[in-house]
Amino acid sequence: MIRINENYLKLNASYLFSEIAKRVSAFQAANPDREIIRLGIGDVTRALPQACVDAFHKAIDEMASDSTFKGYGPEQGYAFLREAIAEHDFKANGADISADEIFVSDGAKCDTANIQELFSEDIIIAIPDPVYPVYLDTNVMAGRTGKFADGRYEGIVYLECTRENGFVPALPEKPVDLIYLCFPNNPTGSTITKDQLAKWVDYAKKNKALILFDAAYEAFITDPALPKSIYEIEGAREVAIEFRSLSKTAGFTGTRCAYTVVPKNCVAYDSEGNAHNLYAMWNRRQTTKFNGVSYPVQKSAAAIYSEPGRTQVKELAAYYLKNAALIRESMMALGYECTGGVDSPYIWIYGKGTGSWDFFNLLLEKAGVVCTPGAGFGRCGEGYIRISAFNSYENVQKAMAKIKEALK
Ligand code: MLT
Repeated sequence: MIRINENYLKLNASYLFSEIAKRVSAFQAANPDREIIRLGIGDVTRALPQACVDAFHKAIDEMASDSTFKGYGPEQGYAFLREAIAEHDFKANGADISADEIFVSDGAKCDTANIQELFSEDIIIAIPDPVYPVYLDTNVMAGRTGKFADGRYEGIVYLECTRENGFVPALPEKPVDLIYLCFPNNPTGSTITKDQLAKWVDYAKKNKALILFDAAYEAFITDPALPKSIYEIEGAREVAIEFRSLSKTAGFTGTRCAYTVVPKNCVAYDSEGNAHNLYAMWNRRQTTKFNGVSYPVQKSAAAIYSEPGRTQVKELAAYYLKNAALIRESMMALGYECTGGVDSPYIWIYGKGTGSWDFFNLLLEKAGVVCTPGAGFGRCGEGYIRISAFNSYENVQKAMAKIKEALK
């Protein structure tokens, strides 16, 4: 008899963004004439930077000729892309990361999900609340939690992110083995200072723990004092893996390109306490289960590091940050408390006592605006909504006018 992985039975029936999409489709079907502005899932709307488009076309032409055609590429990514990443994303910011420590992939979502298969089933995991649901759901699928009760999975150490701590969690009170951190944060839009991050690195070293640092939104950091990478913190190489994505940085949500950094001296331990190299394990995993990102996509991705590409991605981030500022200012003018929207494309809004899903429904029904209910990111998200800055400036202006009218 074929049997299922019963851990799946512990999960909510649908993934958060699928559930929202379902509700929005039902609303649209019932109200076919209503205009809907989507500021829910962080999906970009602007075209790829011109440098990426040009490189993409050129690479496709290469694939059209036997003499320049490419078959399987290196599972870890082409050297031309890995070298450009190491140079511009790390060395330029004083982070000591070499090209061969970078693993190019088709998404930070899958990498953050897949990485957990390197670790033992019985480790103790610390996960922020609220959190990007992938970190939690994939550990549930892997059987690292007990049942779901009262908005929480048994066995997980939740790191509460609240307005009291500025949405930057305190260190756990009991030792944990694996820690998920994401800054600039999804969903709260909060950022972390170098001193705060250094405390986590120090904690990981003292506890022989590992930090999974999701830096998918680093392109939105404009404050030069804020760390763009955990490797700007001394000692992080031994205790942290970092995830990056071109989805929001360069408009690649549909094109798919991301990367994961596993430093060569980053370790985890076996049951006898012997250290093992995570670089070698991740390399083994990727070479076995992954065949790399397509050549044209990698060529297109590498173009963001060219001179025109660097300017164009900066302009892209600035465009969305202008939207974020408008959302933040508009909601604050309506008397709502907001976090994020500065150095981040997400604005986290306290609903003045209205529940998350009620606020979501109200904005959808009265204003035709889709947001994301904070409760979908965890128990501490109840009472909040997240508004994303990924849309055109004109649509954001329209959405804010409609919200103002609806909340009058
Ligand atoms: C979000 O809206 O939280 C993100 O777009 C989801 C993702 O990147 O997978």
